[in-house]
Amino acid sequence: MTILVTGGAGYIGAHVVRLLQQQGDQVVVVDNLSTGQRDRVGGAPIIEVDIAEDRAVDLMVDAMREHSVTAVIHFAAQKQVGESVARPAYYYHQNIGGMANVITAMERAQVRDLVFSSSAATYGMPPTAIVEETADPRPINPYGETKLVGEWMGRAAGKAWGLRFAALRYFNVAGSGWDDLGDPAVLNLVPMVLDRIANGKQPLIFGNDYDTPDGTCVRDYIHVLDLAQAHIDTLTYLAKDERPYDVFNVGTGTGSSVREVLDGLARVSGLAIEPELFERRAGDPPHLVGSPARINETLGWTAQNGLEEILTSAWTAWQTGPRRISVAGE
Ligand code: UFG
Repeated sequence: MTILVTGGAGYIGAHVVRLLQQQGDQVVVVDNLSTGQRDRVGGAPIIEVDIAEDRAVDLMVDAMREHSVTAVIHFAAQKQVGESVARPAYYYHQNIGGMANVITAMERAQVRDLVFSSSAATYGMPPTAIVEETADPRPINPYGETKLVGEWMGRAAGKAWGLRFAALRYFNVAGSGWDDLGDPAVLNLVPMVLDRIANGKQPLIFGNDYDTPDGTCVRDYIHVLDLAQAHIDTLTYLAKDERPYDVFNVGTGTGSSVREVLDGLARVSGLAIEPELFERRAGDPPHLVGSPARINETLGWTAQNGLEEILTSAWTAWQTGPRRISVAGE
């Protein structure tokens, strides 16, 4: 099988590319290399283009035909909640335009299977402590809105021309499956904390007056390798005739607060972490934890790793990278 992976040189994409290659599949990557890195794709061909550019369609059609692509996994997108509040038109253009280009190319090349990177941000502030896929999606920031529209687009293409589509709603992805595939971007809590420390500063907590047990936001942290495996399992699911669902949470059902993540990082690293309090960040829901029941029952997928493994692997990968942090007493 040959799988086209958009954003395959990025943090999550590269984990999926490696798993696919390990099981003997061929991979073609489409990536603009803005946060992705060329040396992460295990020698797969890379089509270097921004997914939302018009010319991306022709380039993808050509690649799908040339490599006899059988399925697409679409990661390439912008993913920062705060930035999406500040730059909504840009997020709509990149994420919705990118998805439209992917689906257009698939229809033209008659490639029928698509796994889409959706997000827990589609839920907004769900009414239940542990959110299920049946909850009404009510995103509270443009990022989440673009992901919800992406889901609608995939579903509509299914009705229109038979796209076989599944969206994975990721919760908070962190850690690394291999030391050379740590998160290269400083866009989420764990790398942001390590980046601050590498720069000789203490990490920031964005608000401690939320209505949560310790006042900091609660998230469902999922190990990137578990998430990557969920994509492999979803490809198998798309090949089946009976597909009762087209949306799955990829979470653990367990929440951790920002403070618990910081305490955990201090524990696994030996670092003395004394965070500074900062103002709330726009667009942040206080509590977002996902039920994995549906993906567990339908695909047989379950997370193998918890917060400890996530933080340990993130720390080890960081320390093998270019910005090693020296720990007191070492
Ligand atoms: N945070 C801090 N300090 C930091 C960085 C983050 O306190 O230096 C807080 C944030 O305010 C938030 C929590 O840590 O409360 C997690 O923030 P991230 O930026 O790591 O992640 P988000 O929850 O905002 O968003 C992430 C992905 C989205 C995805 C979402 C699903 O970036 O793509 O998880 O929950 F949709």
